[in-house]
Amino acid sequence: MDHKSAPEIPTGDRGVWENHFRLSGVNAGKRSYETIKVKRLSPALGGEISGVDLRKPLGNQTFQEIHDALVDNQVIFFRDQDLSYDQHKQFGRRFGSLHVHPVIPGPEGHPEILMLHSDEKVQYSASAWHSDVSFEQMPNLGAILLAKIMPETGGDTEFASMHAAYEGLSDKMQKFLCGLEAEHASEHVFGRPKNENDPRPKSVHPVIRTHPVSGRQGIFVNSVFTTKIIGMKPKESAAVLEFLYRHVETPEFHVRFKWETNSIAFWDNRSTQHRAIADYFPQTRSMQRITINGDDAPAYRPG
Ligand SMILES: [Fe+2]
Repeated sequence: MDHKSAPEIPTGDRGVWENHFRLSGVNAGKRSYETIKVKRLSPALGGEISGVDLRKPLGNQTFQEIHDALVDNQVIFFRDQDLSYDQHKQFGRRFGSLHVHPVIPGPEGHPEILMLHSDEKVQYSASAWHSDVSFEQMPNLGAILLAKIMPETGGDTEFASMHAAYEGLSDKMQKFLCGLEAEHASEHVFGRPKNENDPRPKSVHPVIRTHPVSGRQGIFVNSVFTTKIIGMKPKESAAVLEFLYRHVETPEFHVRFKWETNSIAFWDNRSTQHRAIADYFPQTRSMQRITINGDDAPAYRPG
């Protein structure tokens, strides 16, 4: 068909065209680097980094470039990084202090390492969209996940850009959300505490969070830990949160990572959400993770 003869779209019937998002992150992925290569994987987020061996201590320039790539791409990926526990921790410590899980012990002598293992007997999968431990006062800055044993197919992880999701909203909706705060809790996920040494933290955070490094705004509510919007009637809060959770599911805001043995995903919890695809049971999938402590409470700063 001759495109010149395509009919005009009647005013008032333009909904389908308005679904084309303008993603300002596209250019953010094009910074120039001297010591690493960064290949952007989707318009909204995700950069695959090559040219660096993470088994060796990083020079300052390389560290700074990886740091910048993380902020710009929101999640970065590496291939063929066969790291020992010590090398994994050494890499993570460049970005901040490491989190020690209060309940799940790490391998002997390495309490900072969290093993995530699934096989035919144990089925572990965080398959709902979330930002890690958002119920804490200072949620994690990010996590570095290394694949050790992967299923032949399946077990991908999806990441969503909360910057792209925010920028995909109308001005009016952005303004409405910027004044709001939400409660994030853990008891409804982990069950009632067993004793007084078994805490179930709860926190209130702004619904729109300003990234402390880039200054970009992002949505900071998630379907696993957020329980309500403060000051709203239950029906109002549920409707707004449900809208945001459906909005975050928009494929244009996503990148999907296919793991190989010794692949790494390093995500920024301040600007992304993620979910694991639970399609590989009863195959074995075994990962080791380092989590970097957050260094400030989520905040909203007007642009
Ligand atoms: Fe997670």
